[in-house]
Amino acid sequence: MSAKAVRLDKLLANLGYGSRREIQNLARAGAIRLDGAAWADAGDRIALDPDLPDRLVIDGEALDPLPGLCLMLHKPLGVTCSHKEAGPLVYGLLPERWRRRDPPLSTVGRLDKETSGLLLLTDDGALLHRIISPKANVAKRYRVTLDRPLTGSETGVFASGTLMLEGEERPLLPVILAVEDATHCAVTLTEGRYHQVRRMFAAVGNHVTALHRDRVGGLDLPADLAAGAYRIMTAPDVEAVFAGG
Ligand code: URA
Repeated sequence: MSAKAVRLDKLLANLGYGSRREIQNLARAGAIRLDGAAWADAGDRIALDPDLPDRLVIDGEALDPLPGLCLMLHKPLGVTCSHKEAGPLVYGLLPERWRRRDPPLSTVGRLDKETSGLLLLTDDGALLHRIISPKANVAKRYRVTLDRPLTGSETGVFASGTLMLEGEERPLLPVILAVEDATHCAVTLTEGRYHQVRRMFAAVGNHVTALHRDRVGGLDLPADLAAGAYRIMTAPDVEAVFAGG
């Protein structure tokens, strides 16, 4: 099957390169090149071949990733996933032009401002919903540092499927807790309720002092992905998200 063809000015405008007029001006100036040859009319259609970013050059730079982009980001502490919280946004860690993409990149769920670790972003709404859907049962693993020593009862309470968080009407689904030492553990959960991990430990009389997500489904945060850095996900990375924990 041949790739869908789209107007180049629309494609580039939706990738944040400017208005259609600005893009036409770039084309007229010879600044848009496909396989080395100038693309004269930005109103012409171009086949959306997956290798287009390797072949199309805009103002001397390779084309940005096509729509259908999925990223893994190592969220540092102090940045937020939502405009509703004060502070710099995770989107500020991405190239400036990517913030003008349509469809926009969105975070797949959220991490609190004071939580670090693996955060996925995508412009593919169907994929986003597949990952966060309760049906997909995608497990998330958090490394937890606690203020007070574990008592030994937490594993059973979290696994019971009966723990009720303050202000909620439905108990939490079972959560697996793996003890590392007196004040460190890992929890694996499939739900994503508001401040869930912090509230779970508050419910058993403890306090989370540091929280870091190191795994989503079967995808680990790569050890060589520094805090604040991101990477484009490959198809196997996306499959790993659904491959279980
Ligand atoms: N639970 C929390 O309390 N915070 C997060 O960021 C994620 C899970």
